[in-house]
Amino acid sequence: MARLAVIGAGAWGINHVRVIAAEPRCELVAVADPDPRALDHARTAAPRAALLADSERVLADASIDAVVIASPAATHARLAVAALEHGKAVLIEKPLAMSSTDAQRVATAAGRSGRVAMVGHLMVHHPAVLRLRELFSSGQLGALHYLHCTRVNLGRLRRDENALWSFGPHDLSMIDLLLGCAPLTVAARGQCVLQRDIEDVVFLTMRYPSGELAHVHLSWLSPRKERRLTLVCSQRMVEFDDVAPDKLRIYNKGYESPPSFSEYGQYLVLRDGDVHIPQIAMDEPLRVQLHHFLDSMKTGVAMRGDLASALRITRTLEAAQLSLARDGEPVGVDQSL
Ligand SMILES: NC(=O)c1ccc[n+]([C@@H]2O[C@H](COP(=O)([O-])OP(=O)(O)OC[C@H]3O[C@@H](n4cnc5c(N)ncnc54)[C@H](O)[C@@H]3O)[C@@H](O)[C@H]2O)c1
Repeated sequence: MARLAVIGAGAWGINHVRVIAAEPRCELVAVADPDPRALDHARTAAPRAALLADSERVLADASIDAVVIASPAATHARLAVAALEHGKAVLIEKPLAMSSTDAQRVATAAGRSGRVAMVGHLMVHHPAVLRLRELFSSGQLGALHYLHCTRVNLGRLRRDENALWSFGPHDLSMIDLLLGCAPLTVAARGQCVLQRDIEDVVFLTMRYPSGELAHVHLSWLSPRKERRLTLVCSQRMVEFDDVAPDKLRIYNKGYESPPSFSEYGQYLVLRDGDVHIPQIAMDEPLRVQLHHFLDSMKTGVAMRGDLASALRITRTLEAAQLSLARDGEPVGVDQSL
């Protein structure tokens, strides 16, 4: 049975502690966090795990096979490289790193160690997103014209990440799952309202190699919680709404060219058909992600949340950050991989 440890048991890391502690396929051996309050919470969720103030003790423990890193974003790359160098598999919370140079360092360390490194792009393990990918890749939806994401709420302010780096990985990872590539260009404009030099709201526009357009609205300063991804394709339109009870809606809507027409205005006809809501068996995405990580440790390959996609996402975030500094000037995204 795999022996796991969690590094960083704050607001989000405690969820990893809970899910790993309840998982019969692995054992939660230790939780490391310098904050005693975090360790107190971990004690309740995982009474059998060792509680450590120093993550070095986790790294030095040769009996630990893998670590989940859920410390602040700025520490991810350094801790991930150290864990890989100690021969451990790693599941790193998003964002993988705060620069593509650091993301590449993790990829190099993973290559050298031969251990699996996976990034906690939670949305790519969401059952409704997986169904959406199935539908999209089956061709039933037709050709993708554009997609649009909204991830807004009145939420927690962060000091070490702006709304782009905090929320952006979720939407970029879903788009990457569907399209399997980085955008050619990204343009981003944002607004720092509550803290100096930290954007609370970001509007991101991306152009993909096959011509598709994507727009993403990210904010923690908004009146209502919205988590939506809309795909507008030639045959169907689909909405994934993570706060609605029916997560996926498939609209038989669009425009069609009839084979023949007599008047100019009839060359495109509106198709305003039914809405289909598929039944989706739900499972907690964090648990699905953990199972994927445990499977990947066995096979040696992560099929989702893999480093190649995380590197594409980091490069996109980096280009978007540059575009933010230039008030929306489109910036090219490095395509080499
Ligand atoms: N996947 C998701 O849906 C999701 C949701 C929220 C947050 N996150 C990500 O999880 C990470 C943590 O976010 P959070 O909201 O829990 O932050 P947080 O500030 O609440 O928790 C971070 C914890 O890490 C601890 N820590 C700091 N340095 C450490 C070190 N060197 N070793 C071990 N522990 C250390 C802190 O004491 C704190 O308890 C961030 O990268 C964030 O973006 C992911």
